[in-house]
Amino acid sequence: MLDNNTVAVPRLAATHLSKWYGHVGALREVSVEFWPGLTGIVGDNGAGKSTLLKIFSGFEVPDEGEVLLDGHPVAFHTARAARTVGIESLYQSLALVNTLSVADNVFLGRELYRRILGMRVVDRRAMRKDADDALKLLRISMPPSRVGVKQLSGGQRQAVALARAMYFGARVVLLDEPTASLGPRETAAFLRIIRDTADHGETVVVVGHNLPQMLELADHLLVMRAGRIVAAFSPKETSLRELTDFMVGSA
Ligand SMILES: Nc1ncnc2c1ncn2[C@@H]1O[C@H](COP(=O)(O)OP(=O)(O)OP(=O)(O)O)[C@@H](O)[C@H]1O
Ligand SMILES: [Mg+2]
Repeated sequence: MLDNNTVAVPRLAATHLSKWYGHVGALREVSVEFWPGLTGIVGDNGAGKSTLLKIFSGFEVPDEGEVLLDGHPVAFHTARAARTVGIESLYQSLALVNTLSVADNVFLGRELYRRILGMRVVDRRAMRKDADDALKLLRISMPPSRVGVKQLSGGQRQAVALARAMYFGARVVLLDEPTASLGPRETAAFLRIIRDTADHGETVVVVGHNLPQMLELADHLLVMRAGRIVAAFSPKETSLRELTDFMVGSA
């Protein structure tokens, strides 16, 4: 729904993005828009999916082209810079500090403070409460947020990272094969969390290889092949067969 003051611009977009690794054109003039909701990206190995996400999340810098957030050009050279403007990327191993508690991980680098006798001290109690509240929103069963994250399963770890993204008002969440190393139950739970996040109004982008899963999960599907976006579908309008044909180039 648009009100009178809202201009219809995609939350995240790119124009003519190209990225070369030596002679390999990992991305070739990719232009794309991401709106609130869940966009799935599928494609064969080496199609450029991760490269695209890495550019949006500040891990890679494009050779050409521009990234736009809410219609404004942005350029970042670090994941931290991308996060500062509201673009979170989740990687299972990368996101959390094993030696810290769940709550400390949610607030890592952005701790809450209170004053005791004029001194600024970290407000652990407030952090635990807010972390527990944020995790409750995700409806995932978790140990209390004071426990160390090294005790968590893969799906729970990603839930912590997602809770952090949502607590700090991330506008865009990027996930590269988020369920690749999860078991069936964890996968189902985490997919539901991802879906809830998108329904909550975030712009969620998920790269995945499991086509039936992506057909069921996504609001929009993009197919990449050899550094290009070669097709865009609503899941209702396409099929496994058609997606595969576009992925391998026989369509
Ligand atoms: N750091 C790098 N150095 C050299 N080549 C790279 C690098 N990263 C990616 N590439 C190449 O760029 C192309 C696109 O890679 P990318 O990782 O984006 O593919 P992908 O679609 O994510 O594949 P997969 O499904 O296997 O994860 C591939 O040919 C890959 O070999
Ligand atoms: Mg990849």
